[in-house]
Amino acid sequence: MSRNFAQELIEEIKARVSIREVVADYLTLGKAGANWKALCPFHREKTPSFMVHEGKGIFHCFGCGESGNIFTFLMKMEGASFPEAVEKLAKRAGVELPRDDRGQKNQEPDEHYLLYRVNELAQKFYQAQLFSPEGVTALEYLRKRGLSRAELERLGLGYAPAGWENLIRHLEGRGLSSKLALEAGLIVPRESGDGHYDRFRDRVMFPIHDLMGRVRGFGGRVMDDSLPKYINSPETPIYKKGEMLYGLDLAKEAIRKKDRAIIVEGYFDRISLDLYGFKEAVASLGTAFTEAQARVIGRYSRNIYLIFDADEAGRKASFRALPIFLPAGLLPYLVLMPEGNDPDDLVRKAGAEALESLIASAPRLLDYFLETQIHAAGTDLAQKAAQVRELTQTVALIPMGLERELYLKKLSELSGISLSRLERTILRERIPERQPGRQEAPEKTAFNRLGSEELILVCLVNNPIPELARLMLEQKVPEKVSDSALAQYLLSLSGEIAQKGAGDPVNFFHLLNGSRWEGLAGRALSERSPYAGDQIFEVVKDAIAELDKRKVSEKDSELNQRLSAAKNEGNQELVLELLSEKNRLIQLKRKPTVNRAG
Ligand code: UTP
Ligand code: MN
Repeated sequence: MSRNFAQELIEEIKARVSIREVVADYLTLGKAGANWKALCPFHREKTPSFMVHEGKGIFHCFGCGESGNIFTFLMKMEGASFPEAVEKLAKRAGVELPRDDRGQKNQEPDEHYLLYRVNELAQKFYQAQLFSPEGVTALEYLRKRGLSRAELERLGLGYAPAGWENLIRHLEGRGLSSKLALEAGLIVPRESGDGHYDRFRDRVMFPIHDLMGRVRGFGGRVMDDSLPKYINSPETPIYKKGEMLYGLDLAKEAIRKKDRAIIVEGYFDRISLDLYGFKEAVASLGTAFTEAQARVIGRYSRNIYLIFDADEAGRKASFRALPIFLPAGLLPYLVLMPEGNDPDDLVRKAGAEALESLIASAPRLLDYFLETQIHAAGTDLAQKAAQVRELTQTVALIPMGLERELYLKKLSELSGISLSRLERTILRERIPERQPGRQEAPEKTAFNRLGSEELILVCLVNNPIPELARLMLEQKVPEKVSDSALAQYLLSLSGEIAQKGAGDPVNFFHLLNGSRWEGLAGRALSERSPYAGDQIFEVVKDAIAELDKRKVSEKDSELNQRLSAAKNEGNQELVLELLSEKNRLIQLKRKPTVNRAG
């Protein structure tokens, strides 16, 4: 944590921001009694087990056990740090944060903060260049491609000027080291080993933003027919192409609202679709589509429309998307472009309606795949058998369920091979079963077989009552637990409850942030208490006794070690002292420290 946010601030934000609204920015929520439910974004599933408790300000997934509050939700969803989540939610809540003190002494800067910073500076530099005299050609090029100045500014497009050291000099002027620019992939070492040069030169620049709106990398296009057409940032600590999608920051809202996502291949495709009202479009980043990207998209909508180039390469690429989407339980559509057109060409030539009608008639990629492939095999029977075997395997990628059954049936009809025969093929091939929809066995989320510290945490979170809080403090439980985050949490929560007569366990959740206790505390909040009435006290007292016993035996073995060392040294005085200490310990062991009768 690089910033220490005052407790009241956290409280204020939590009071003002509804967890349902935060979650709804990412997931489609349905009503579930007094609560809300959605498909869990943290594991694959087909039926919703992700619950949002608005009153308690928490979420919890019964499938994978993830849980937390608005802050941890953002952290997990966006890979944000705690301060970043606070900052974002503070803005949303209209709560003023103390002046940004990042990077100052005592504050450990966020690990990648400087990389974001150098990217941000580069983006600003490119943008300024576009609107400077240097950028007239680039501006004209972009204007011809349909982009007004307002749009260019909204999208953050820029121009990397010709010349070898423009960016380097600009960054140096701001005190940023070339080491940093190198790590961000903005510059390249000279082959002579002496100095660096700008990676992007005389190119139109596309900044690639993450979900938080931070620049993680760039793509740069030439303005003529020279090659390579695009140069992209290399992979960096903050830029992993397989995990990002171009334009998702701008598209996520629309994807959720329209409940559909359009995935295109090119930067310009994404931009043109946006201009023509398809704000739900995102682009992959010049690399094959990955499972990580499919999962991100699937969080926002399950209706995914893939648009690949209308040639053989495009078709092949679309088929390669099947093993990415099917195991995630997603059945994307394939939008078939007229030959020789990409989405950018199409909307600009034929308008939004043309694309809309292609979308309306788009087949599911899997249907299209099965239909075209079954014909491709021709009349050779051996070839056909191999083909059917392969297609069966593809269908078997769908998680067990109705969809899989129906597609097998379809394949059976297309191939003329009986359904039961196809099913046996699947069994024979023993395709490792991946069942994203399957929920964990209920025992796994129940509170049985918890250790003493876990039990104490669960009981207090579940029953934040003064009697229990006082017991915690009297018995000095925070001092007895082995982990400092847990100790802090128990101390703060018990203190609050004991002092004010009540306290909300969620209020101190941030103390557990990133620790192994976080998930458990969340679960304790959202699940019914496993213990009731006096049973709670019994359980807690037993657990405390267990902690004491552990302490005593730790102390005991430590004493034994010191004793034998003292004996070896012949240190009589110390031996006597240690022996009497051991005696006291034995007394302690006999007398339970907690009055079990209550
Ligand atoms: P396209 O060649 O279809 O480019 O490549 P485009 O986006 O339609 O661009 P225009 O319309 O010709 O200007 C699709 C995507 O593949 C990646 C880029 O991400 C591009 O947007 N690509 C392409 C590269 O990374 N490098 C290249 O040399 C070409
Ligand atoms: Mn294009």
